[in-house]
Amino acid sequence: MRRVVQFSTGNVGQHTLRAIVGRPDLELVGVHAASPEKVGRDAAELCGLSRPTGVLATDDIDALIALEPDCVVYTALGETRPMEVLEQIARFLSAGINVVGTALVWLVTPRQADAWVREPLEKACAAGNSTLYVNGIDPGYSGDTAALAALSLVTRAESVTVKEVFDYGNYDDYEYTGTAMGFGRKPEDEVPLAFQPGMITAVFGGLVRNLADHLGVRLDEVRDRFEAWYTPERIECRMMTVEPGGMAGVRFAAEGVRGGEPVITVEHTTRLTPAAAPDWDYPPEGHSGVHTVIVAGEPRVEMNTMLSHPTLDVTEAGCIATGARVVNVIDWVCRAPAGIVAADQIPPAEMVRGLMW
Ligand SMILES: NC(=O)c1ccc[n+]([C@@H]2O[C@H](COP(=O)([O-])OP(=O)(O)OC[C@H]3O[C@@H](n4cnc5c(N)ncnc54)[C@H](OP(=O)(O)O)[C@@H]3O)[C@@H](O)[C@H]2O)c1
Repeated sequence: MRRVVQFSTGNVGQHTLRAIVGRPDLELVGVHAASPEKVGRDAAELCGLSRPTGVLATDDIDALIALEPDCVVYTALGETRPMEVLEQIARFLSAGINVVGTALVWLVTPRQADAWVREPLEKACAAGNSTLYVNGIDPGYSGDTAALAALSLVTRAESVTVKEVFDYGNYDDYEYTGTAMGFGRKPEDEVPLAFQPGMITAVFGGLVRNLADHLGVRLDEVRDRFEAWYTPERIECRMMTVEPGGMAGVRFAAEGVRGGEPVITVEHTTRLTPAAAPDWDYPPEGHSGVHTVIVAGEPRVEMNTMLSHPTLDVTEAGCIATGARVVNVIDWVCRAPAGIVAADQIPPAEMVRGLMW
């Protein structure tokens, strides 16, 4: 039994919290909440469960460290406040507490991550003899577990493309995702944060370079590609309302180029409602989202991962899956050597233990 603290209860965190409470091999010992209205409330309330857990949310990180958990599941928003998140995660690691998480997506490929994010956490792991693992569905699963599975089926690969095609219309996250991606902006407005020069490769280039390393390929460059779709009609969805002329779809990629041709591509097509960007790819069979790996090679492989849920939207299903990527390896991470680990270091069977209960 691993003793676990859940840090934050947002889009991803409420699902990891439910998973921790439900699993017989994990014991919830603490919950962090940043929002004052969540502090003092029972963990069950914060993730929609009816039976109280007796664990009350706190914003006191020292109190959570004093519980001496085996592991913290860190799912607070990371990319808009990276220095604060680095400091918070480092406090747990240097106290000897392992951390699995979904924030600081650059660490999905830790060997490719910049020194400013990697080094302080490596130091904290060394100080506390602890382990850190960051993953998700994309970035994460699609570019590591899925891409490696697809590539394992060919005797020769000419190119590999990892694609997310998703309708974010029901994603209740205008504050971060909506504004960073610039939904609603007009062509004459400033280029949104996520697509300013170098930003796509800053987030997704690590996945491209990581796959190049696995394949033993030397790339000439990793470059950004970005195009926007502006709606002729008003689009209303849960994330926001986009007025005519506003951006309601984006297609962007980080491309690893060899000999002038992209050979390793990580691409996203993101639309608000199915009405947006009608000429771009849609997920197969009427689904709202797909993660696809296409290997052009001997033979051609196309692997589609489609999530769904009887009551929740596909973006919430994506948040459950993102959480699963890290909750499912808590036991392995607790046994791993100190340092920041990547998905390719974890034996696939270790990712599924304890799931069927
Ligand atoms: N790789 C993937 O596939 C993938 C997919 C989804 C998300 N992610 C990553 O996972 C992280 C969480 O995403 P999300 O959609 O769940 O985020 P979110 O719902 O927008 O935010 C999560 C939580 O962050 C906490 N938070 C916000 N500001 C804070 C502050 N100043 N101090 C402490 N906590 C603060 C809040 O915690 P309280 O609830 O306690 O107030 C909030 O509920 C992000 O970094 C995101 O990039 C990765």
